[in-house]
Amino acid sequence: MRTYTANAALLKALSETRRAGSTIAFVPTMGNLHEGHLELVRKASELADIVVVSIFVNPMQFGAGEDLDAYPRTLISDKEKLFAEGVPILFAPGPGEIYPEGLSTQTQVMVPELADTLCGASRPGHFTGVATVVSKLFNIVRPDFAVFGEKDFQQLSIIRKMVLDLCLPIEIIGVATAREKDGLALSSRNGFLTRSERAVAPRLNEILMECREAIACGFDNFRELQAHAQLKLIRAGFEPDYFEIRDARTLHEVTESTEEVAILAAAKLGQPRLIDNVRLALNPVSDWGMLSSQ
Ligand code: PAF
Repeated sequence: MRTYTANAALLKALSETRRAGSTIAFVPTMGNLHEGHLELVRKASELADIVVVSIFVNPMQFGAGEDLDAYPRTLISDKEKLFAEGVPILFAPGPGEIYPEGLSTQTQVMVPELADTLCGASRPGHFTGVATVVSKLFNIVRPDFAVFGEKDFQQLSIIRKMVLDLCLPIEIIGVATAREKDGLALSSRNGFLTRSERAVAPRLNEILMECREAIACGFDNFRELQAHAQLKLIRAGFEPDYFEIRDARTLHEVTESTEEVAILAAAKLGQPRLIDNVRLALNPVSDWGMLSSQ
């Protein structure tokens, strides 16, 4: 595996790769890799000749008081994991390479509306930081495919919209959330859970699935379902940020034309803030019937 830390060297190596006719699949990450990231890497290697993984803890997507300094940096073990997966190219730049003039004068990529709701409402600027760094990385790597996890469902929606709006010739691929046996979505933040919080954490996914089950059974008072789920989260020991039933395509409220709902939640459990989502395809014949779900 070759590791690049400079944009120019990676650009040069990849333009040679492209000239040789190889396709490129890209997996952007912030490191601290777990099985969920490795699933993305495996998907990427099915899609293209060359897989490029980036590890960059992006300061622009962390708000004031968020955990930028505490974010786990585990480059040596990350490299071992990527090597074991047969990844040929790792891009691991420092902040000075991506933001040579700092953040205050950095051009920003904003995806209005989609970036302001759900996680964006409580983390202002977060998705502008994500969209900006991802577009920079896309311009450096110039991949044919880019692979993202569905756990960060809002992030995935924002990247899809950005690629569409900016006419970027990149196919965005979403990969199903990787979970522990008890249903907890894999996340770098799980490492911050205490033993007792870890025991409670799978309730987040259970409560999402209970809500999905209720909708699949025909319950369509979403306000009541959301309020009930928030209460269940509080009783379990969470501090909910939101629990929302939305149109999976637009992330707006569900309407008669909604084909698939996404049920999304974010909640603090002790110090870590956990997010998760499940989806449910609605039966176009009878209003609320289950066709398939993820
Ligand atoms: O999902 C992440 O790890 C980050 O938000 C991403 C996409 C690598 C951008 O920094």
